[in-house]
Amino acid sequence: MLTDKVVLITGGARRIGAAIARCLHQRGARLVLHYRSSRAEAEALQRELEAVRPGSVALVQADLLDTASLPRLVECALAHFGRLDGLVNNASSFFPGGVGQIDEVEWDDLIGSNLKAPLFLAQAAAPALLASGGAIVGIVDIHAERPLKGHVVYNLAKAGHAQLIRTLALELAPQVRVNGVAPGSNIWPEGASVFTADVRAAIESAIPLGRIGEPRDLARVVAFLLSEEAAYITGQVIAVDGGRSVVL
Ligand SMILES: NC(=O)c1ccc[n+]([C@@H]2O[C@H](COP(=O)([O-])OP(=O)(O)OC[C@H]3O[C@@H](n4cnc5c(N)ncnc54)[C@H](OP(=O)(O)O)[C@@H]3O)[C@@H](O)[C@H]2O)c1
Repeated sequence: MLTDKVVLITGGARRIGAAIARCLHQRGARLVLHYRSSRAEAEALQRELEAVRPGSVALVQADLLDTASLPRLVECALAHFGRLDGLVNNASSFFPGGVGQIDEVEWDDLIGSNLKAPLFLAQAAAPALLASGGAIVGIVDIHAERPLKGHVVYNLAKAGHAQLIRTLALELAPQVRVNGVAPGSNIWPEGASVFTADVRAAIESAIPLGRIGEPRDLARVVAFLLSEEAAYITGQVIAVDGGRSVVL
């Protein structure tokens, strides 16, 4: 259980972030839900969760590429709830870029959201997490280890995030545990995508457990890693991918 724990989730308004929010809230956590553009979804999720427990969800808006804005997310948790017990670095940009297509704008976006912001946000949150004996969970990707073709900078950013998790585990021990979850395919990316119907079918048929993951498959592992049940686990990245990384 996560009763009364205060957890900050980045990119928490929609998709996997929202599933994590519902799962943690169901286990008793109070939430600071960060969003960038998805204000309506964030407000709807806040209403949904506060119908269960009034006053249990605060919202905070920020573009995580604006590093100077990151301490405000932590301040929001302290102002609303007086403490911070968990940070879930979930927000991420994802788009293709092979050799010859990479420019600095895309580098800044992918590295900024997937690596730089998790580092600077963890740094901003560290004093509060050290005080509470809290935990950090980063959402990585199985392609941090085995690259996804045509996604050079994304692969690098997620590989960096995996190393950030191990590094922070060392830096913040023994008070703060830091772990990661590496999804395989859980929700197909939105918009124009290399994941055509044929590619999706090929991926799905290669997953040992025989199905695409669901956001709640990930959310349950995030909840576990934040909880006392994971008290002796730090510096680990757990693949939640139906076994796909075994056959990649
Ligand atoms: N979907 C999958 O199957 C899959 C597979 C492997 C890894 N993952 C990882 O799992 C996590 C969640 O995946 P997802 O598919 O749910 O993610 P997503 O929908 O692509 O993005 C999650 C949120 O990130 C926020 N975001 C992006 N750039 C931002 C920025 N510069 N500043 C602030 N917020 C920003 C957006 O918030 P707003 O909407 O509010 O703008 C967005 O809703 C990500 O870390 C992703 O890399 C997912």
